Amino acid sequence: MNTTIPVTSTATELSETTGDEWWRTAVIYQVYPRSFADSNGDGIGDLPGITAHLPALRELGVDAIWLSPFMTSPQRDAGYDVADYRGVDPLFGTLADFDDMLAAAHELGLRVIVDLVPNHTSSDHAWFREALASAPGSAERGHYWFRDGKGENGDEPPNNWNSVFGGPAWTRTTNADGTPGQWYLHLFDSSQPDLNWEDPWVWARFRDILRFWLDRGVDGFRIDVAHGMAKAEGLPDFTPAQGAGSMGGAGGSLEPEISTVPPEPPYWGQEGGHAIFRDWHRVLAEYDGDRALCGEAWIDPPSKLALYVRPDEMQQTFNFSYLETPWNAQALHEVITSSLDAFGSVGAPSTWVLSNHDVVRHATRLALMGDNPQGHGLGPKTPFRPDPVVGLRRARAATTLMLALPGSAYLFQGEELGLPEVIDLPDSARQDPTWFRTHGERYGRDGCRVPIPWTAAGASYGFSDTGASWLPQPAEWATLARDVEASDPDSTLSLYRRLLAEREERGLGAGVLEWLDGFGENVVAFHNGEVTVVANVGEASVSLPPGTVLVSSAPLAEGRLPADTAAWLAR
Ligand code: GLC
Ligand code: CA
Repeated sequence: MNTTIPVTSTATELSETTGDEWWRTAVIYQVYPRSFADSNGDGIGDLPGITAHLPALRELGVDAIWLSPFMTSPQRDAGYDVADYRGVDPLFGTLADFDDMLAAAHELGLRVIVDLVPNHTSSDHAWFREALASAPGSAERGHYWFRDGKGENGDEPPNNWNSVFGGPAWTRTTNADGTPGQWYLHLFDSSQPDLNWEDPWVWARFRDILRFWLDRGVDGFRIDVAHGMAKAEGLPDFTPAQGAGSMGGAGGSLEPEISTVPPEPPYWGQEGGHAIFRDWHRVLAEYDGDRALCGEAWIDPPSKLALYVRPDEMQQTFNFSYLETPWNAQALHEVITSSLDAFGSVGAPSTWVLSNHDVVRHATRLALMGDNPQGHGLGPKTPFRPDPVVGLRRARAATTLMLALPGSAYLFQGEELGLPEVIDLPDSARQDPTWFRTHGERYGRDGCRVPIPWTAAGASYGFSDTGASWLPQPAEWATLARDVEASDPDSTLSLYRRLLAEREERGLGAGVLEWLDGFGENVVAFHNGEVTVVANVGEASVSLPPGTVLVSSAPLAEGRLPADTAAWLAR
């Protein structure tokens, strides 16, 4: 059952004409540049490192890659603080390195999506510097959210909003003469001032930025904080409901919550954002080759999220409701149904995702017994320790389930190796602004961002020739290195390769899901075309329907599907 699959070396042709809408079924692999592969020994992954390792992604069987930001940045939030949207940060290489990477990817038949960060710039961006140097009420300040403070001396923030990373969402400026000045809004770190999307000047700048990258040949953009760009009129105070996640309006915890629907925060999911995506849709439509926008919108439920992918807006949006679903058959059944219904009703593909650079890796998260809101992370003092064996077993089953679903799926680098969250990072190594802004109360996201292992031998497991690594890698990762897993038919890498090959061959991305009943309350089961998919999230084994097993996330036990295991069968 678990034989290593042959890998095709011929590159698939990318269609040059419009009409194939590749993004409807694509499996898109997230490259987190600083942690992927380091070519010059400074301990930070870079563009030439990506280019050198693209064949490994081709072999894995993904259709496209999405690159987290590599643009010029002071790196206060790992590049999600952009100081020049058209420049490559020297940490990652040059624009020529980017062009080489893009050409090499296209040569291999891989599409490339780049990350666009339009909700905020870096405080080092020329636009913000000019705004600071300009008077209150000036056009320059109008590109951002500058406001006078409240209270007699203006020494209280303009409203009560908190930053996603902790602390207030406002920072006071200092005037040239040293006196305290206006405040500016930042939903994230104080080094990430929010742009004012009510200002047409901002719209014009971003159209040009989109065209800059489209002209270079990118296949699309992942839109950072798409749900936060428009703010409610008057920036009213808001008190989030208890238990609300740090990024979304509702949810955010791993356990289902019994609560009334909280009111809409005045900074997430505002109606005004949609006009921006309609504008961008028109820009992309000027280009050939089915360019696509994928929104990072932490919006629940899927019926509201689907508004972002109406026919004249973005092509895709991340399905975080799916990511946040607990390991529970009923909850999975519900979220899959509501996602397919919601996206289907607007003619968009559903997307699926289990891990990214902002959340606890699913090989750890799925074994978490305690509440761990998104973005809080795990560390040495977290009162619960997920069992790594259970976590990996569930993660393999969860991915087996996910890759059988119709639509498009996102993978995060390293999940194909079964990498867990790194919990025991020393405090001194942590770099996430969340860690600093909460004074260590929240560990943040460094644990999922540790550089990935390529080889069991060698300094930093082949990540970098010098052994340098911007975050320390755990000793156990030698056994999870790509070269070890590549030759082990039972490895997580072999499982991913097999799943991706079968998914492609059997057209599951373009398939139709038909639910199957009768397997008991701990089983998720459906047909997708000629394939039967069964996922057992319970503790007891279950019998399998008739069919030939194509792939199973763990060995069967006397012909039965064991606990925390998923399988695909040919009908
Ligand atoms: C998005 C990114 C995250 C970043 C934040 C601010 O959520 O995925 O990494 O910190 O936006 O840009
Ligand atoms: Ca480097």
